[in-house]
Amino acid sequence: RRYKIAVIPGDGIGPETIGASLEILQALQETLGSFQIEYTHLDWSSDRYFAQGKYLPDDWMTVLKPHDAIFFGAVGHPKVPDHISLWELLLPIRQRFQQYANLRPTRIMRGVDSPLKNISPESLDWMLVRENTEGEYAGQGGRTHIGQPWEVGTELAIFTRQGIERIFRFAYQIAESRSKKHLTFVTKSNAQRSGMVLWDEVAWQIAAEFPHVKTEKMLVDAMTVRMVHKPESLDTIVATNLHADILSDLAAAIAGSIGIAPASSIDPTRQYPSTFESVHGSAPDIAGRGIANPIATMWAGVEMLRWLGEEVAADAWMKAIEDVCAEGVLTPDLGGKEDTRGVTDAIRAKVIKN
Ligand code: NAI
Ligand code: MG
Repeated sequence: RRYKIAVIPGDGIGPETIGASLEILQALQETLGSFQIEYTHLDWSSDRYFAQGKYLPDDWMTVLKPHDAIFFGAVGHPKVPDHISLWELLLPIRQRFQQYANLRPTRIMRGVDSPLKNISPESLDWMLVRENTEGEYAGQGGRTHIGQPWEVGTELAIFTRQGIERIFRFAYQIAESRSKKHLTFVTKSNAQRSGMVLWDEVAWQIAAEFPHVKTEKMLVDAMTVRMVHKPESLDTIVATNLHADILSDLAAAIAGSIGIAPASSIDPTRQYPSTFESVHGSAPDIAGRGIANPIATMWAGVEMLRWLGEEVAADAWMKAIEDVCAEGVLTPDLGGKEDTRGVTDAIRAKVIKN
């Protein structure tokens, strides 16, 4: 089978972790011989913004639409305000391509230490489902009386019945497919009395469509405590755009490092291509030093292969990642001494050998 994949390495460590991942994809193609990928390499980044004043070309939707998937590094540059880089590149793709579900699996890999004591790889296996197109990141709001002492800034969270229904239906399908059949939805409907109350009401309505899944409601603040103290009591987790953004960094830290956490921004209808990316950003503090952990982007690559239906290749790549971690071939963020090159070579060797 042949696939068309758009590659956007972006900024900072993005090109480093994407480059490492493309090497493994190449090795998988050559070793398995069952699929071929045709890449479109896109230089949409802060460097392009400095040179041309824009991250995205005007026809970006037309350029991306014919692809089976988008493989994305990271965006963010110390010389560009973060709300500009994010809103000029990543968020338009998520919103215009209706990538309304962002999936963030969290597991503790063998060989990787969690900062939590008494936690084993078996006791933590979460699937965090993030609403990815509306809520607190709807982009609605504004500023008036700029610079005056009475200046006002509003940031409006938008929750639509349709938007909530579709993310919950998608999350329940995931929960149903997992062995624990347990879904926890995160809310803040005690303090926020409109959008979050609608969120809860729709959640319980969709819950009724899935009687085999046990449903639980958690307030987001209490949820942070639960994730630390009773991680084994959670399975599928659904949260708003903002809440899941924060909880997924916490989840990544519990699993050892943000350097291993993947994210898939999915359009479940498959009308538009989905984006496969890391949870982490461009990490300017370590960019260019060759020490970025490539596993977050690689795991996203694994999820991309699964989305395309290449299960054998996906399993081979994931097993190679897990084996290399178990052998202690780790980058400094996981307490190891290897660099990006060393980890990538070790994973490639496993992919070729297995
Ligand atoms: P960050 O995720 O880039 O980095 C946070 C910390 O984790 C840093 O100390 C970094 O060195 C470390 N880290 C991140 N990824 C790593 C990896 N693969 N290996 C080893 N260490 C790693 O978040 P930060 O510093 O808040 O943001 C930096 C820039 O990235 C900002 O411009 C921000 O807006 C942007 N950003 C972009 C995202 C995206 O493109 N999806 C997501 C989050 C932030
Ligand atoms: Mg984030």
